[in-house]
Amino acid sequence: MQRKFVYLAILLVIALTSWIYWNSNDEFNNTLVFLKRKNYIIKDVQIKPSNFSCKSQLFLVIIVTSYVGHVELRSAHRRAMPSDMLRQMNASRVFLLAQIPETEKFITQSAIKDESNEFGDILQGTFTENYRNLTYKHLMGLQWASINCDKTKFILKVDDDTVFNLEKTYELLKTLDHTSNFFMGYMLNNTEPKRSRENKWYVTWHEYSRTEYPPYLSGWYYITTPGVAATVSDEAIYHPYFWIDDIFVTGILTEALGIKLRQLPDNYWLEYYELLECCLNDMIKKSIKCDYVIGPNGGRNNLIVEFNNAVRNCISWQNCTTRTDVQNLNKVCVAYKQRTIFSDGGKAEVQYIKL
Ligand SMILES: *[C@@H]1O[C@H](CO)[C@@H](O)[C@H](O)[C@H]1NC(C)=O
Ligand SMILES: *[C@@H]1O[C@H](CO)[C@@H](O)[C@H](O)[C@H]1NC(C)=O
Ligand SMILES: *[C@@H]1O[C@H](CO)[C@@H](O)[C@H](O)[C@H]1NC(C)=O
Ligand SMILES: *[C@@H]1O[C@H](CO)[C@@H](O)[C@H](O)[C@H]1NC(C)=O
Ligand SMILES: *[C@@H]1O[C@H](CO)[C@@H](O)[C@H](O)[C@H]1NC(C)=O
Repeated sequence: MQRKFVYLAILLVIALTSWIYWNSNDEFNNTLVFLKRKNYIIKDVQIKPSNFSCKSQLFLVIIVTSYVGHVELRSAHRRAMPSDMLRQMNASRVFLLAQIPETEKFITQSAIKDESNEFGDILQGTFTENYRNLTYKHLMGLQWASINCDKTKFILKVDDDTVFNLEKTYELLKTLDHTSNFFMGYMLNNTEPKRSRENKWYVTWHEYSRTEYPPYLSGWYYITTPGVAATVSDEAIYHPYFWIDDIFVTGILTEALGIKLRQLPDNYWLEYYELLECCLNDMIKKSIKCDYVIGPNGGRNNLIVEFNNAVRNCISWQNCTTRTDVQNLNKVCVAYKQRTIFSDGGKAEVQYIKL
């Protein structure tokens, strides 16, 4: 009887030790894999920006995450904010791309090479385009900017389908003085992981074990500094890879580092494409100012060009009026109320996770 008990105890101890061993080993392996990937992200990129220097552009570097096939969106960014204009503002821009996935039929690597030869503004990682690989892309951009533009004052991170006004961004940046530990964007509090399998953004308990995400900034548009970007991307190796990039980078990593997130000014951000469209139309047709700085493009590649042009016309013609309370966008533009950001497929799902 006693002997049986001893055997059982020994068996239990063995089971427990191997369980602990396997678990810790698992984590160790994860870290190793990530460490390897991290190195390979910075050292082993396929295309580097050929005509790029932060040496004389010391105010702002713009990093734009861009799906490799979004040729037209990149073209729209270049037309909305040509490199001459960027230079005058002491700014530069780089697009972050990954490898062409097998499912992509409309783009070839030689076309990307040509685009890079022509504009010199492409950084292409060796990982494959996939929404589950976006964290690599995001970290690649931060690491690259923090290493190559370490003397630059600000980094602006945007997505290629974000519409934003450059001049107003510049105005805001010039007012910002305290730049140590600086992380500013559209802050999201109390978001919960999607636990239903049907959701594209479904997250398993193994991938993320808490019931709520830490506060984070939407990846659409945020501002930081090269110093913070370096600290944050260095921190990444101590955490298991999490594929929702803005939550990982601006939430999980900043929380671990104790970096305080800052909210953008009020009336800076339009969450709905319809509101942006409406605001833009009023600016073009009725010369009513649209003071918002950023919004989603609703799948319209050229919206960033139209928006920036209209804002510039308003400024140079000096005949735009300020929007009155009666003309409040939420009262005037009702279309967006008919659908919610939460219920659509495709793009709206992206908005859902990011907002
Ligand atoms: C560019 O920015 C740097 C750092 O902020 C500043 O020293 C320099 O004078 C600026 N150059 C121009 C042309 O604005
Ligand atoms: C490279 O940059 C210089 C000035 O910085 C510019 O004049 C030239 O047009 C650029 N070339 C390309 C290929 O973008
Ligand atoms: C991420 O990139 C790697 C490296 O190219 C690739 O093997 C992997 O399949 C990609 N992940 C997904 C989910 O596509
Ligand atoms: C999130 O919380 C911060 C304070 O911690 C606050 O400044 C910010 O406005 C909040 N954001 C939203 C969207 O509620
Ligand atoms: C503002 O000036 C532009 C260019 O002259 C003109 O097309 C537009 O109609 C003017 N708007 C108003 C409200 O006068």
